[in-house]
Amino acid sequence: MSLAVCPGSFDPITLGHVDAVRRARAMFDEVVVAVAHNPAKRYLFDADERVDLARRSLADLDGVRVELVPGLLARYCADVGATAIVKGLRGAADFDAEHAMALMNRHLSGVETVFVMGDPALAHVASSLVKDVARHGGDLTDLVPPAVAEAMRRALSNSGEAR
Ligand code: PNS
Repeated sequence: MSLAVCPGSFDPITLGHVDAVRRARAMFDEVVVAVAHNPAKRYLFDADERVDLARRSLADLDGVRVELVPGLLARYCADVGATAIVKGLRGAADFDAEHAMALMNRHLSGVETVFVMGDPALAHVASSLVKDVARHGGDLTDLVPPAVAEAMRRALSNSGEAR
């Protein structure tokens, strides 16, 4: 049984992430979407909300589950016997950021990272940009699943950050 781990902050999960998870699932029997939590980072959604939104966005995919991974990703991969880490790449800038992480995770646990090229139609979709669009009242259709769009509007209006 092959197991892929798809890690990220998922603050929040986007249609780009969903695309990468689908591609991972096409190659591996089981996929764990690993929601990382870094206490030093300022998130729009807390860890439980990020897990919940990812679960709702991926509910129709068999063989995919979502877990909170608060510590070192390499340790989690070793604990669950991951076959590989799978990451989606939008372009060369993503590769530059991912290269060192892939080498570090392999150094720590021996686990290889497999990169999948995302759908080019989603190459502009990044959680940070989507949050900026949401803060300024832009249309989130085709960027995030509907439940995420609704949660973003609510979170930003509660925080008084929205337009
Ligand atoms: O979505 P992101 O923020 O680009 O994902 C980065 C993430 C969460 C994959 C990375 O920061 C991570 O793996 N964090 C868990 C802690 C860890 O293992 N850090 C060392 C990474 S080599």
